[in-house]
Amino acid sequence: MIGFAKPILLSTVLLTLTGAVHAQSAATKPYTPSFGQCPSDFSLVRLAGSTTQTLSKGESDYISARNEQVLPGAWKSYLETVQGTGANLPSYISDILGGKGKEKPTLGIAQSGGGLRAAIVGAGIMNALDSRNQSSKAAGTGGLLQAATYVSALSGGSWLVTSLALANYPTIQDLIFPPTSGSSDTNVFGGWLADTNVLAPSTDQTTNAQFIGTLFGEIAGKLQAGFPVTFADVWSRALARHFVNGTTAGNVLSNATAHGAGVTFSSIANTPSFVAHQQPFPIVLVNTDSSNGNKSVIFSDVGGLVPITNPIYEFNVYEMGSWDPTLSAFTPTQYLGSRNNSICVTGFDQASLIEATSSGLFEQFNTSASALASSPIGAVFTPFNQTFFQPNVELISAQYPNPFKGVAGQSFIDTNEDLLSLVDGGHDGENIPIQPLLVKARGVDTIFVIDVSDDDKGFATGRSMIATQNRTTFYPSSYSFPPVPGNTSTYVLQNLTTRPTFFGCNGNTTAPLVIYVANGGPPQGQPILTNQSSFFFDYPEDLLQSMLQQSFTFATQGRPNSTAANAKDPEWPACLACAAADRARERSGASRSGVCVGCFERYCWEGDGAAATGTSSKAKSGYGRNGVDGVLVVVLGLLALLMLH
Ligand SMILES: *[C@@H]1O[C@H](CO)[C@@H](O)[C@H](O)[C@H]1NC(C)=O
Ligand SMILES: *[C@@H]1O[C@H](CO)[C@@H](O)[C@H](O)[C@H]1NC(C)=O
Ligand SMILES: *[C@@H]1O[C@H](CO)[C@@H](O)[C@H](O)[C@H]1NC(C)=O
Ligand SMILES: *[C@@H]1O[C@H](CO)[C@@H](O)[C@H](O)[C@H]1NC(C)=O
Ligand SMILES: *[C@@H]1O[C@H](CO)[C@@H](O)[C@H](O)[C@H]1NC(C)=O
Ligand SMILES: *[C@@H]1O[C@H](CO)[C@@H](O)[C@H](O)[C@H]1NC(C)=O
Ligand SMILES: *[C@@H]1O[C@H](CO)[C@@H](O)[C@H](O)[C@H]1NC(C)=O
Ligand SMILES: *[C@@H]1O[C@H](CO)[C@@H](O)[C@H](O)[C@H]1NC(C)=O
Ligand SMILES: *[C@@H]1O[C@H](CO)[C@@H](O)[C@H](O)[C@H]1NC(C)=O
Ligand SMILES: *[C@@H]1O[C@H](CO)[C@@H](O)[C@H](O)[C@H]1NC(C)=O
Ligand SMILES: *[C@@H]1O[C@H](CO)[C@@H](O)[C@H](O)[C@H]1NC(C)=O
Ligand SMILES: *[C@@H]1O[C@H](CO)[C@@H](O)[C@H](O)[C@H]1NC(C)=O
Repeated sequence: MIGFAKPILLSTVLLTLTGAVHAQSAATKPYTPSFGQCPSDFSLVRLAGSTTQTLSKGESDYISARNEQVLPGAWKSYLETVQGTGANLPSYISDILGGKGKEKPTLGIAQSGGGLRAAIVGAGIMNALDSRNQSSKAAGTGGLLQAATYVSALSGGSWLVTSLALANYPTIQDLIFPPTSGSSDTNVFGGWLADTNVLAPSTDQTTNAQFIGTLFGEIAGKLQAGFPVTFADVWSRALARHFVNGTTAGNVLSNATAHGAGVTFSSIANTPSFVAHQQPFPIVLVNTDSSNGNKSVIFSDVGGLVPITNPIYEFNVYEMGSWDPTLSAFTPTQYLGSRNNSICVTGFDQASLIEATSSGLFEQFNTSASALASSPIGAVFTPFNQTFFQPNVELISAQYPNPFKGVAGQSFIDTNEDLLSLVDGGHDGENIPIQPLLVKARGVDTIFVIDVSDDDKGFATGRSMIATQNRTTFYPSSYSFPPVPGNTSTYVLQNLTTRPTFFGCNGNTTAPLVIYVANGGPPQGQPILTNQSSFFFDYPEDLLQSMLQQSFTFATQGRPNSTAANAKDPEWPACLACAAADRARERSGASRSGVCVGCFERYCWEGDGAAATGTSSKAKSGYGRNGVDGVLVVVLGLLALLMLH
C-alpha cells in the first residue's frame, strides 16, 4: 500500500513545468469559468428565513415528485424484502411502509469522510442497502438506499456520493469497476480507477512530473479569467480522473481528453435517474477556515481544526449556502463564481472542485512555508506556489467569490470578505455530514449514519457524534440532536462503533432517530482491513473488494448474541425497519409493539438520563444505560481490557 506521498522527484517536476503551464490541454478551456448576462429572473442570494426556514423551489419540487412517484413503491418493496426474511412485523410497520398509513417516513443517509477508506467502506454499506443487489435483498437490508430522501456526504465520502450521482446511480460494483463498455463516448463514467494513485499515477517519476504539469496547465485558464486558483484546483483536476465522468483506465495519463472538466455539480440535474427523481437528493458539505472565526471554540479534542461555530456550507444540485442561523442564505450552484445580479458566471461549479473542496484535508499540515515544503504534498505544493503565487490568497484552501458579501450583517463572519476560504467538510471536528439532515424544513425522521472516521488508528470511536452534539448547543432553535455519549471510551467499551446502535429512541420528536453504523473494528473473526490511512490514495482491487465485503457485514450483522465468526442477529432486518418507521409511528399515535419492542431494547443507547423520560421505549438492554448498570458495564469493560494486556 502506497500513499500519495510517493516520492515525486521535485527537480523533475520543476523542470517540466515551465513548458506545461502555458500549454493548453483539452481540459483547460472547459475548466475555465465564463461570464455572461444573468437570466432576467436571476437572484444572486436567496434568504432562507430566520425562525422558519424554507427550501429552494428546485429542492421542494424534486422532493414532492420523489414523494409522489418513487418513494411509495420503494418503501413497499423494502417492506417485502424485510418480510422475506421471515420477520413478523407489527401491523403499524407494514401500514406505514406499505403506504396504508397517513404518516410517511423520511430517511436521510449521512456518509462520513475519511479519504478513500471512507468512500470504500461507505460504498460497501450502501451496497448492502441497495435493492438491486440480490445478496442485500437476501440479507433483508436492500431497499433503504432507494427509499432514502436525502444522502449527505463530506470529504472522501463526497467522492462516493458525487460519483454515484454523476454516473447516474449504477450499482456499487458497476460504479467502482464498470463493465468494459467499449463506448467511444468520452463522457461515460469509467470507474474509480482506485488502483491508480491520485497524485502520483505512474511508477515512472518523469511521467508523474508531466502529469502534475498537465494538471497545472488545466487550471491556468481559470487564473487568467480572473479567479484565484489554489492547491484545491490541482486536487480537483487530479480527483476528476477518478470521481467524475470522462476518464477510463486506458486514458488516465493522456492529456488529449478533458477528464471531466466542464462536468458541473449542477449538471447532476440532467442525469436520467435524477430527472426521474430516482436519486436520493445529494448534498455535499464543506467548512471554512475564515480568519474571522471565534478561535476559542476550536475543539481539537474531537479533531477540530476550525471553530465549531464557523458556518457549515452545503452544495446541492440547486443551491450552495448555509442553514446556520448566522447566515441562512443560498446562491444558485449553477452560477457560483458570480458576484452580482447582472454578470453571471457559469462553469465554476465543476463537480471535481466541489469534491476537492469538501476533501481539502491539507489544512491539517502545518501551512508555514518551510513545513509545507517538507510535508507529503510539498513535492507538488512547492512548484505550485512557484508557478501560481498570488499575494493575499490562501493557497491551500479553496477560494470562492463570496456571493454573501454584505448579507446577514455582522452575525455572518465573512460578510465583509470578497472570497470564501473553503476547506474539508470535517475540519470542525464533525466528520459526519449530519447538519443538513437536522434542518427542520427537510423534516428528516431518521438518519442512517455511516461513520468511517479515523478517530483512533484508522477506526471510528464516536468523536464526530460528540462534536455534532456539541455544535447543536450553539444553535438550539435551529438543530436538535438526540443525546449521545459524550466520551469516546463509552462508544468503544459499549461496542457502539462495532455494532449498529440507535440514538434518540426516547420519544423526543424534535430530534431525528439516528441509526449509527460505524467502522469501529473488523467483523467478528475477520482480519483487520478497514483501518487504512485517510492518506492512502490507491488501493489494489483485491483489498478494495475485501473491504467492500467486510463493510457489507457491518450493515447486515446487527448485534449478534454470539461471538462466533459470521454471527448475525436474525432480527436485524426487522429492527432496522422498526427504526426507519419509528418517528412516523409516533406521529400516528401507535405504540411500539411486537418485534420492535425487543429491537429497541437491544439497539437503543439510552444514556444521559434519557431512560427516565422514555415513554414506550423503556430500555432494558444490558448496555448503554447510565446509572448503576451502565457504570458496571464500563467497569467490567475496563477490567476486560486490563486482563487482555
Ligand atoms: C456520466 O456517464 C453516465 C454513463 O456512464 C451517464 O449515464 C451520465 O448521465 C453521465 N453524467 C453526466 C453528468 O454527464
Ligand atoms: C501532453 O502530453 C504530451 C505527450 O506526453 C506532451 O508532450 C505535452 O507537453 C503534454 N501537454 C500538456 C499540456 O501537458
Ligand atoms: C467565542 O466563544 C466563546 C465560547 O463560546 C464565547 O464566550 C465568546 O463570547 C465568543 N466570542 C465572540 C466574539 O463571539
Ligand atoms: C458584476 O460582477 C462582475 C464580475 O463578476 C463585474 O465585472 C461587474 O463589474 C459587476 N457589475 C456590477 C454592476 O457591479
Ligand atoms: C510561496 O511563494 C512566495 C513567493 O515566492 C513565498 O514568499 C512564500 O513563502 C511561498 N509560500 C509557501 C507556503 O511556500
Ligand atoms: C509550523 O512550522 C514552523 C516552521 O517549521 C514552526 O516554527 C511552527 O511552530 C510550526 N507550527 C505548528 C503549529 O506546528
Ligand atoms: C463542547 O466541547 C468543548 C471542548 O471539548 C467543551 O469544553 C464544551 O463543554 C462542550 N460543550 C458542550 C455543550 O458539550
Ligand atoms: C429533546 O431534545 C431537545 C434538543 O436536543 C432537548 O432540549 C430536550 O430536553 C429533549 N427532550 C426530552 C424529553 O428528552
Ligand atoms: C471518559 O471516560 C474515561 C473512562 O471511562 C474517563 O477516564 C475519562 O475521564 C472520561 N473523559 C471525559 C472527558 O469525561
Ligand atoms: C463488546 O463486544 C465484545 C466482543 O464481541 C464482547 O466480549 C463484550 O461483551 C461486548 N461488550 C458489551 C458491553 O456489550
Ligand atoms: C452484491 O453484494 C455482494 C456483497 O458485497 C457482492 O459480493 C456482489 O458482487 C454484489 N453483486 C452485484 C451484482 O453487484
Ligand atoms: C440468540 O439468538 C437466537 C436467534 O434469535 C436465539 O434463538 C437464541 O436463543 C439467542 N441466544 C441467547 C443466549 O440469547
